[in-house]
Amino acid sequence: MKLVIANWKMNPQTLTEAEGIFNSIKNEIKTVKNVEVVICPPFVYLEKLAVSVSVGDAFSFGAQNCFWEKSGVYTGEISPLMLKDLGAKYVIIGHSERRRYLGETDEMIAQKVKAVLENGLKPILCIGETREQRENGLTAETIKKQLEKDLNQISNSELQISNSEIIVVYEPVWAISSGRVGAGNPCLPEDAAKAVSFIRDKLAEMFNREIADNIRIIYGGSVVSDNVAGYLQKKGIDGVLPGAASLNAVEFIKLIKNAENL
Ligand code: PGA
Repeated sequence: MKLVIANWKMNPQTLTEAEGIFNSIKNEIKTVKNVEVVICPPFVYLEKLAVSVSVGDAFSFGAQNCFWEKSGVYTGEISPLMLKDLGAKYVIIGHSERRRYLGETDEMIAQKVKAVLENGLKPILCIGETREQRENGLTAETIKKQLEKDLNQISNSELQISNSEIIVVYEPVWAISSGRVGAGNPCLPEDAAKAVSFIRDKLAEMFNREIADNIRIIYGGSVVSDNVAGYLQKKGIDGVLPGAASLNAVEFIKLIKNAENL
């Protein structure tokens, strides 16, 4: 079962538009076969959209961030428990835009990953190198350090409890689009597959081979309907995380269909 995670980022501008996009894709994602779809809208749209999930649907909802505490004096923050209460099943953690614009550090990310798991949600951990790191031959080193730091609070036993699961996204920063479908600079599927296999080996070293083989590792960065098959056909790539392409209902349905028909 391939995983497609839609990262809406800080879009669209109004709830009406968000409902419009969701209503246009709803029938498709309810009944899709062989693909699990996760929609990650901004927090404020979650409650309204997540109520439409019924038992047996092939899709669910996720958030794009959270705080690590359960409640308390943390102005502006939102806890994993609050997200769970609204119907979220997943939480994206450590997206490069948060690392870059909000100063999110690996230490903060490690606490968030732990809190998300502890609350029975699934963290979607994003890692990946910048263009400069890639040009300096530091791709493997960067990914390795991020995994070590971001998962340093997670033990084997936590990942062996049924339903507790992490998803890792290889998302090279240079490959992320500026928000326009088809205008990005995607990573070649063979390079993405190489990075994903490196990530799996590293996870096997950190936990064990069985846990590493069960972790879903996906690719993100300018994924569109035309290139999705290239990633999903590569051994080891368990799914994709489209941003811009997930906000255009026609394009997103095409992407899902292309994933479904593999
Ligand atoms: P993109 O975004 O598909 O628009 O490149 C992916 C992401 O950053 O999550």
